[in-house]
Amino acid sequence: MNLQLAKGVSFIFEIKKIDFMIDDIIQISKEAGELIRNAFGKTHSIEFKTNELNLVTETDKASEKLITDFVRKKYPSHGILAEEGSEANKSSEYLWVIDPLDGTTNFAHGLPIFAVSIGVQKNGETIAGVVYDVMRDVLFSAEKGSGSFANRKGIHISRNENLGHSVLVTGFPYDIRTNPDKAFERFLAFLKHARAIRRLGSAAIDFCYVANGVFDGFWEVSLHPWDICAGKLIVEEAGGIVTDFDGNEIDIYSTCLAGRQERILATNGIVHQKMMDVLNSV
Ligand code: IPD
Ligand code: CA
Ligand code: CA
Repeated sequence: MNLQLAKGVSFIFEIKKIDFMIDDIIQISKEAGELIRNAFGKTHSIEFKTNELNLVTETDKASEKLITDFVRKKYPSHGILAEEGSEANKSSEYLWVIDPLDGTTNFAHGLPIFAVSIGVQKNGETIAGVVYDVMRDVLFSAEKGSGSFANRKGIHISRNENLGHSVLVTGFPYDIRTNPDKAFERFLAFLKHARAIRRLGSAAIDFCYVANGVFDGFWEVSLHPWDICAGKLIVEEAGGIVTDFDGNEIDIYSTCLAGRQERILATNGIVHQKMMDVLNSV
């Protein structure tokens, strides 16, 4: 086999491997979603994590166990980083970044807006992402270089260029009482510039609704890698951009580093600069 042909074969093999993996990510996200759906509306054992705003239920833990058991069995050499503490093979080439239930406060209070979010990185680059919007039964997915999909139908960011016609979404960090970081000022500033602002309570869904054009932009501070990993790829593959408030590339692990706090802005790209101007005006 000549070198060119060998390269071609290994490329096809690589693509196949990724295809295979996305089907697995989709399958396990749906299984976790079903577990969560079955538990929704029942009584939960609620524990506080860092404070009384930051909750975890037995369903977050059960969903995480289901997903991580699957990864450990099917991809035993892969790394795992999951919100409720599961970790494995940290130095592996592949890393599964898992939020087993994004929107725990909504879930625990009976509001049907929450998701399962799973991103897979290869050597630090996100190659696949799935966000399963559990109660609407909509599965968002993306693979690097292949576009974004909702229930396997292509999705695209909005084409709106007018900030005054924009519907935006945001979220607030769990440490807002002690570290507000201008969250209120930013919210007020957008109230004066945008058509409407929403707060859904699930960052993973916020990203996906930017990706499918429902929202023109999403900003939030202090998100964690499991909130961002899949959603960021889904926005980018739908034609949008994700940066910090100054237009710089973000590090999804920033908030895990002591004293750092990533500021995330995800938009259709067209209103990006206008949103940065507002964010930096306060
Ligand atoms: C939270 C949600 C929420 C966002 C918080 C996240 P969790 O995730 O995504 O929308 O505002 O910053 O921590 O705790 O429900 O997985
Ligand atoms: Ca989350
Ligand atoms: Ca979570």
